[in-house]
Amino acid sequence: TRVAVVFGGRSTEHGISCVSAGSILAALDPDQFDVVPVGITRAGQWVLASGDREQFAIDDRRLPEITAGTGSAVVLPADPTGNGLMVLDAPDGPRALAGVDLVFPVLHGAYGEDGTIQGLLEMADIPYVGANVLASAAAMDKEFTKKLCVAEGIPVGAYVVLRSGMTLSEADKERLGLPVFVKPARAGSSYGVSKVSDWADLDAALDAARQIDPKVLVEATIVGREIECGVLESESGGAPEVSPLAEVRVMPGRDFYDFEAKYLDDSCEYDLPARLPEEVTRKVQEYASRAFTALDCAGLARADFFVTPEHDVYLNELNTMPGFTPTSMFPRMWAAAGLEYPKLVDRLIRTALS
Ligand code: DAL
Ligand code: MG
Repeated sequence: TRVAVVFGGRSTEHGISCVSAGSILAALDPDQFDVVPVGITRAGQWVLASGDREQFAIDDRRLPEITAGTGSAVVLPADPTGNGLMVLDAPDGPRALAGVDLVFPVLHGAYGEDGTIQGLLEMADIPYVGANVLASAAAMDKEFTKKLCVAEGIPVGAYVVLRSGMTLSEADKERLGLPVFVKPARAGSSYGVSKVSDWADLDAALDAARQIDPKVLVEATIVGREIECGVLESESGGAPEVSPLAEVRVMPGRDFYDFEAKYLDDSCEYDLPARLPEEVTRKVQEYASRAFTALDCAGLARADFFVTPEHDVYLNELNTMPGFTPTSMFPRMWAAAGLEYPKLVDRLIRTALS
């Protein structure tokens, strides 16, 4: 089976995508898969990348990056014998992704986790791992994730959507209360997210979020624990499967589970499985499964929740291409369920091909 692993990309999560891809490439059994690593530069150029491990590591807090010089040729998903998209200029002749059986789009954030590459692959008739166009787009957008999940009866916290040019009304400030979290609507890994504890800092936070997305969400703080749940498409066509839950505990001194805590330092501890009463675990898992189905997800997702001291459960967000970095929870939660990393990757590929 010929698998193109596509990573990097135009989003702020470019570097994280490279780190995720590194783990996935390492987990693909070379006896079973003929792997084609395809990097996308920040400018959107597709290059055949080397399998060189160095391009995938976080080195002294520096994130890896795919540049045009990293690769040997420019490619687009194409099947020269069919209706696929055309190959761009490749120095050593046309190098399409010809004969690729499947694409594993290990892309986080805009232009990858948001339905764009999924649309491209649909048009080229190439199977791919993960959610389709609509589910990817809906889950990427924190506004629509919440709207669809609320329609399904899944609780979410109070929030306000500020489209381009809008700011928070006094009534909304009153309703949300301090502190609030200001987030770009379509981003990930906490890029552009600020915790605002004084309304005087709101404008700066809105500016920071709008560097990434003109649409911003302002969310009320939910005082509670951060709980995550992995979801996999059923192999038998039934309800999705859910993993054991993980709790992310951010150490005192750090405001929230921000980018640094996620990837750069050791200011987080993880409980796997999360220490929660059985019925609360089941409730979180049920919401995770229902959110997956409500958004029409496929393949995989990680659902993130807050659980209050009273054991009320709120969905925070759904990630259709969750992180696969060495510190990411999705593969670890499945390993805890007995599905080790190579088996997980193998299952994702098999599900996508079936
Ligand atoms: N957006 C990052 C990669 C995650 O959800 O794990
Ligand atoms: Mg996310």
